[in-house]
Amino acid sequence: MTSRAVPPAAPLSGSDPRTPPGGTEDGAAVGAAVRLVGVSKSFPVADGKSLTAVDAVDLELAPGSLTALTGPSGSGKSTLLHLIGAIERADSGSLTVDGLDLATANRRSLTAYRRGVGFVFQRFHLLPALTALDNVLAPVLPYRRPGFDRVERARELLDAVGLAGRESALPSRLSGGQQQRVAIARALINRPRLLLADEPTGNLDSRTGREVLDLLLDLRTRHPMTVVLSTHDPATADTCERKVVLLDGRLEAPDGR
Ligand SMILES: Nc1ncnc2c1ncn2[C@@H]1O[C@H](COP(=O)(O)OP(=O)(O)OP(=O)(O)O)[C@@H](O)[C@H]1O
Ligand SMILES: [Mg+2]
Repeated sequence: MTSRAVPPAAPLSGSDPRTPPGGTEDGAAVGAAVRLVGVSKSFPVADGKSLTAVDAVDLELAPGSLTALTGPSGSGKSTLLHLIGAIERADSGSLTVDGLDLATANRRSLTAYRRGVGFVFQRFHLLPALTALDNVLAPVLPYRRPGFDRVERARELLDAVGLAGRESALPSRLSGGQQQRVAIARALINRPRLLLADEPTGNLDSRTGREVLDLLLDLRTRHPMTVVLSTHDPATADTCERKVVLLDGRLEAPDGR
């Protein structure tokens, strides 16, 4: 399956009639505004010492922007994505998304926030016992039984990622590229304002990786959102509007083109 199989940009249905002014046909605004000021995160390691994975990072991501996060292995890319996605909490500094301070937000606000963030992982992280369709619906399941509109949206998303007709396939029956397409559809089910992709092409051969990247870029035209993508691949980073480089947890090139 190639990215050429992806149909031309068209609005996904299920639009929220309460779309706010400035919102899109897809029910989302142009994406989240992310602001980090002096954000640090350390982890305890042996002998009572700690390792600073993210070190006093200042970073601003404009709504709807596409940023590549690069840097050597261990430089803090995944940790930074986890902080922005509220999977981890920063030790210090300020991290706000659309004005919500992730350091001080209560559990309820953080849960609501996480639902508005789409994650794509290097190793896909699909649930092996669930079909492609149910994997796309998985983020909805803890909250409510998916209604017809959700199932319809999941089908449309699978169609949009070029997997129409493979709704009932288990992940083990799909190629790596197809599994990542399912994971991308899953990341979009809740209409995220922010998409965090941690080496989304890292487990794919270069051609399949390019197709998955093209797919992500194409989906952005239909579903505007702020995207941060970590990658080791210079070509992938160069495709993004902006490239930032981490070295030992510090931001080396805030706009390193
Ligand atoms: N939960 C953890 N406990 C202890 N150390 C951690 C933990 N998570 C990350 N680290 C350490 O923090 C540093 C940054 O890790 P991180 O996974 O963010 O790097 P990365 O840039 O994503 O690397 P890679 O390119 O290999 O994925 C590393 O030294 C790592 O060992
Ligand atoms: Mg990583």
